[in-house]
Amino acid sequence: MSRNSFSLAVMPGEGIGVEVMDAALTVLDAVERRHGIGFHRQHVPGGAHHYRETGVALEEAGFVAAERADAILFGAMGWPDIRYPDGTEIAPQLDLRFRMGLYAGVRPIRAIPGVPTALAAPQAKHIDFVVLRESTEGMFASRGKGVIENDAVARDTMVITRDVTERLSRFAFRLAERRAARRGRKGTVTIVDKANVFRSFAFMRKVFYEVAAEFPDVDARHHYIDAMALDLVRRPWDFDVLPMENLFGDIISDLGGGLIGGMGFAPSADIGDAHALFQPSHGTAPDIAGRGIANPTGMILSLAMALDWLGERHGSEACSVAAQEIEQAVDHAFGSGQVRSFDIGGRDGTKAVAEAVIAGLGRVPERRAAE
Ligand code: NAI
Ligand code: MG
Repeated sequence: MSRNSFSLAVMPGEGIGVEVMDAALTVLDAVERRHGIGFHRQHVPGGAHHYRETGVALEEAGFVAAERADAILFGAMGWPDIRYPDGTEIAPQLDLRFRMGLYAGVRPIRAIPGVPTALAAPQAKHIDFVVLRESTEGMFASRGKGVIENDAVARDTMVITRDVTERLSRFAFRLAERRAARRGRKGTVTIVDKANVFRSFAFMRKVFYEVAAEFPDVDARHHYIDAMALDLVRRPWDFDVLPMENLFGDIISDLGGGLIGGMGFAPSADIGDAHALFQPSHGTAPDIAGRGIANPTGMILSLAMALDWLGERHGSEACSVAAQEIEQAVDHAFGSGQVRSFDIGGRDGTKAVAEAVIAGLGRVPERRAAE
């Protein structure tokens, strides 16, 4: 029998992280009722304010709860005014990625019907690619280890390993296979690097093509990061799965979010071989926090990714169906013109967006006539 009960570690964090998490959990309540699946939720506190109050950003007990749960839902953590003595920000999400080996940062960039895209071209509504950000090494391997010499020179060192590159590449090809099955066309994986200048990237590309040989049904390509920045503005609809180094992925994810209506629409998953964490791509947004106007769509779509992952991992059809339903309900809510969040010039707050998504569960999306 397939599983119908799961445990979730819920880490709302702070700022709008808390607001979008509350909204997404009301969607989860509705999914539980509709599909007869149960999600036992354990609340885990953490973040910059938590650090200010307790001296610790995320307790050991919080890490353990996250490791024990079937999946982790994460809002956002960090606050610009609250910093460690070395001047860096409190970012437990980075600690979680490193500690739990969440190497695959999956950031789908998909145009949602009814949401204005930054590009006027008619093809913009077909934007549907995935930034696959390596999340445990690359430039971020130097986090906390950078050296400032005599106040004259500063150094940070990038690390690329064969092991993680192989796993990331395999993840990319498998993802492309799954997407190809759904979209009814051949998948393409394009590694994004700077192999023309740096040995570490030349090595990364070599390992990528070794793995590519295991997946003859998927096209394997490469693209330089600077050219990719150009092409993601010129023709983003041409791309499929884009694995890349950590810092490149950090930057390109935000560019991607900008293409499809802003960070409020961008979900993400941090996936490892044993654990996975799901969170919107945005941060705590201190500029709009506390006003009930944050767009919860990125968080709600991250919840859908969590259900999709659980469905695949545990063979739970109910989770897989629920994941698809949430995605379609989001498309329906925005595509029908029923909601328009503040970040795209509308008047619907966090709650109203979640309510529209819940009302749309089980409905097949329609495109607006005007589109
Ligand atoms: P941010 O993503 O919080 O905000 C950037 C801009 O996008 C702001 O103008 C904000 O109002 C807007 N925005 C973001 N999410 C939105 C949503 N759901 N609905 C409507 N508008 C939205 O990035 P920022 O300002 O650079 O960082 C703020 C804090 O968040 C910092 O302390 C940073 O370290 C932290 N952060 C945490 C992340 C995480 O927990 N994974 C990721 C990024 C930043
Ligand atoms: Mg970022």
